[in-house]
Amino acid sequence: MRLLGSVVILPLVLLLVSCKAADPQNTLLGTHGHVAADIAKLSWGVFWAAAVVFVLVEGMLLYILVRYRDRGDRELPVQVHGHTKLEITWTIVPTLLLAGVAVPTLFTLIHIDTIPKDSMTINVTAHQWWWEFQYPDGKFTTADEMHIPVNRNIHLILHSNDVIHGFWVPKLAGKTEVIPNHDNEMWIDATEANTYSAQCTEFCGEEHALMRFEVIAQPQAEFNSWMVGQQAQAADLGHPGAQTFLKGPCVACHAIGGTAAVGNVGPNLTHFASRAWFEEMDNNPDDVAKWLHNPQAVKPGNLMPNYNLSDQDIQSLVGFLEGLK
Ligand code: CUA
Repeated sequence: MRLLGSVVILPLVLLLVSCKAADPQNTLLGTHGHVAADIAKLSWGVFWAAAVVFVLVEGMLLYILVRYRDRGDRELPVQVHGHTKLEITWTIVPTLLLAGVAVPTLFTLIHIDTIPKDSMTINVTAHQWWWEFQYPDGKFTTADEMHIPVNRNIHLILHSNDVIHGFWVPKLAGKTEVIPNHDNEMWIDATEANTYSAQCTEFCGEEHALMRFEVIAQPQAEFNSWMVGQQAQAADLGHPGAQTFLKGPCVACHAIGGTAAVGNVGPNLTHFASRAWFEEMDNNPDDVAKWLHNPQAVKPGNLMPNYNLSDQDIQSLVGFLEGLK
């Protein structure tokens, strides 16, 4: 019984508890996008076809092993060589089965590969180790949080700024490689207003594991007002931190709409304070100060050097950045 418990039941329990439909990484149950749902449907179809074949083949094997086992009282049975009918059968049946799997596979491939004509376009750029989202219609840029309207087809053009990354929102669509000098395209949609976790799926350097992002699907009206907010300028140039920012090294890499800062190496900070988190930390004054104090200690290897900023500069920068709503 103990053996049965450890070998069969325990792994089964572990397997089952890891399969909740609500889990953000579960792509087989509880999907919220048409592409992900299509892929899940195909996976289940192939799984059940394979399960039927498995049970039939293994069942026959077990039956024959038991039924014709050597009971010690038999003579050598008649020896046969070749069985044309049987050989034709076991060639034709798998061929039909594979053809049966190929047809829905091809239809699924064509469906997920055909970008719907009415799509809204977002340009996605992968950087070591963050995501940049450009909204050509709204002419603004964000980082690590991709907002989309719910029930709207979104056409994504995927660029890489450095190495190969992988774009994956498990609940909404399959993954697509993001390759330097070759733009890949895909489409996604979200059928439910929600925040979906997403991540880079290609090992892209030491902080690959921290290259997560979120897709925030909102009702159209809410999305529209978010767009309007993103297009507005938020910088308070009268804040003492504005001068620290604009006269310091920050402008070499970062842009803030409505100011002279137009760097495009690091994330666009126009509405920095409207994002819930940054660099895997909550977007609050303490964590922003921690980051500015030494970015290399938080995310070693990232492109932002430690500028050894004074505590006073850090405080005024934090105040200025947290005002960028
Ligand atoms: Cu980008 Cu892993």
